[in-house]
Amino acid sequence: MFVRVLSFALEGIEAFPVTVEVDVSPGIPAFDIVGLPDAAVRESRERVRAAIRNGGWTFPAHRITVNLAPAHTRKGGAGFDLAVGLGILAAGGHLSASVLHGMAFAGELALDGALRPVRGALAIALASRKAGARALVVPLESAAEATLAGGTVYGAVNLVAVVNHITGAAPLEEARIVPESNEGSFHPVDLADVKGQLAARRALEVAAAGGHNLIMMGPPGAGKSMLARCLPGILPPLEPEEALEVSRIHSVVGLLAGNGGLLRTRPFRAPHHCASRSAVLGGGTPLRPGEITLAHRGVLFLDEVPEFDRPVLEGLRQPLEDGKVSISRAHGNAVFPARPMLVAAANPCPCGYLGNATRACTCPPVAITQYRSRLSGPLLDRFDLQIHLEPVPYDDLVTQTGTHPSESSLSVRSRVAAARARQRKRFYGTGLSCNAEMPVHLVRRFCRLPGGGEVLMRQAMERMGLSLRAHDRILKVSRTIADLAGADEIEIAHLAEALQYRSIERSVLVVSS
Ligand SMILES: Nc1ncnc2c1ncn2[C@@H]1O[C@H](COP(=O)(O)OP(=O)(O)O)[C@@H](O)[C@H]1O
Ligand SMILES: [Mg+2]
Repeated sequence: MFVRVLSFALEGIEAFPVTVEVDVSPGIPAFDIVGLPDAAVRESRERVRAAIRNGGWTFPAHRITVNLAPAHTRKGGAGFDLAVGLGILAAGGHLSASVLHGMAFAGELALDGALRPVRGALAIALASRKAGARALVVPLESAAEATLAGGTVYGAVNLVAVVNHITGAAPLEEARIVPESNEGSFHPVDLADVKGQLAARRALEVAAAGGHNLIMMGPPGAGKSMLARCLPGILPPLEPEEALEVSRIHSVVGLLAGNGGLLRTRPFRAPHHCASRSAVLGGGTPLRPGEITLAHRGVLFLDEVPEFDRPVLEGLRQPLEDGKVSISRAHGNAVFPARPMLVAAANPCPCGYLGNATRACTCPPVAITQYRSRLSGPLLDRFDLQIHLEPVPYDDLVTQTGTHPSESSLSVRSRVAAARARQRKRFYGTGLSCNAEMPVHLVRRFCRLPGGGEVLMRQAMERMGLSLRAHDRILKVSRTIADLAGADEIEIAHLAEALQYRSIERSVLVVSS
C-alpha cells in the first residue's frame, strides 16, 4: 500500500514542505529511505521501528520504501520521524490513510515513541499554513512556538497520542498562543549605571533613534563595551511584523526562548573577534544564518573591531548597504535578511594608550598604522556616528553617584521611541522603518538642508575629506537629530551636531598619511 504524509525540512532560515511517500509491499523485509536524506534521516529507520513496536503495533514484515519528495534537495535532521512513522502505520494497515489527509506533521521520535522538540517550529508552522494544511501536529514542547504562525496546531507527547488524535479516539486540545516572552525584560546594563560620558550617551541615543551604525574609539576602560551593552535597553520593542520575522530566524537556529513566546526585544549579538566569516555572515553545511542575520532588526556589536579578520570586516560592507546577505552555494544563492545596526568599539592602537594624557603608548608607529588600516576607509565610511571616548576621571566616578544620578535607559528609551514613531509615519507604506535605511531618493526628499546648511556642509566635507557616502549619512543623522528634537525641518544646529560625529575619520587619515 502507498501513503503520502506532509512534513517539512529546514534550509537556511526557511522551512519547505516535504512529502513523505511510504510504500509497503510484499517481499523480503527491508526498510529504505531515499530522496537525498542525510545521516540523521537515515537513522530515522531505527527510531521509527522501535517507536512503532513500543507503541504496541507490529512492525510490517514487508518491503518498506520511504521517498522524501522533492528528491533533489538535501534533507537533514530528525524532524521527519513522525511523518515516516505515521506513513508506515497507514501503509501497513494499522491506520486509515484518509485520517492523514490535509494534516502536516513534524517531530523527532525517541525509541519509546515519545516526541522530542523540533528546531524551527515557527518556520515549519508558517510553511504548513502556506502549504494549505488544515492542522499541524508537533511535539508538545514545540507547540507554543508553532502557534505564533497563527494556524491550527496540536502538541502531542508521543506517537500513540498523535494516532489517537487523528483517528478521533482521543482528540488533543488545540495549542494556545502563549503571552509574549520577554516584553519589558531585564537588561543587564542600564544607562543609570554609566557615569558622565554625556557626549557618548548622546551619540548612543542618536544611533538608537535612527538605527545608525556607530563606532566608539577610546582607551581600554573608557566604557565602550559597557555603553554598547546599554543599547538593547534603549531600543524600542520590535514592531509586530518584525517580531514574527526575527522570531522565525531565531527559531530555525534553536535560539527562541523555551516558553515559545515571540521575541519582542531587539536582538543584540556580540560575536567574538575570532569568529569566522561564515559565523558572522552565514554559510556552512548545513546552511546556517550568520550573526549579521541573527542581529537583524537589532544590534550587531563588534567589540575590538580591528582584531576581526579582514575578510570578515570586508564581507560586512555589502550586506550593510543592501540590508541582506547573499551566500553562494553549490546550487544557487541563499539570501538572508541582514539589517542590524552595526556598533563597533576599537582601541586607538594595539596597546590602547595612544594619545593618553597619563600613560605612554608603547606601540611602534608601523603597528599603529597597520592596526588602523584594518578599518579600511570604505568600512569606516559606513559608520554614521564615529566618536572618541576618554575614561571618566576616578573622582567623577565616585562623587557623581547620588548627587547627579544618570538618566535611566527607560527614560532615554521613551525619547528614542518618539523619534522612531515620527520615522514610521514618514516612511508609511515604503517598507522602511528608520532613517538609516533611507535610499538616496528619499534622502533628497526628506533631508533638505536649511539656508546656510549647504555652505557648512561643503566646508566640512573639504576640511575632513569626506566621501559622498559620508555626505548622505550625515544628512540622515541630521534628520534623526531633528526627529529627536521633534522638528519637521533639519536646522543648522542638527547638521552641526551630525558633523561632530565624524571625528575618527579625520584622525585616521592623519595617522595613515
Ligand atoms: N562611565 C562609566 N561609568 C561607570 N562605570 C564605568 C564607566 N566607564 C567604565 N566603567 C567601568 O569600567 C569597566 C570597564 O569598562 P568597559 O566598558 O569594559 O571599557 P572598554 O570597553 O572601553 O575597555 C566597566 O565594566 C565599568 O565597571
Ligand atoms: Mg571593551
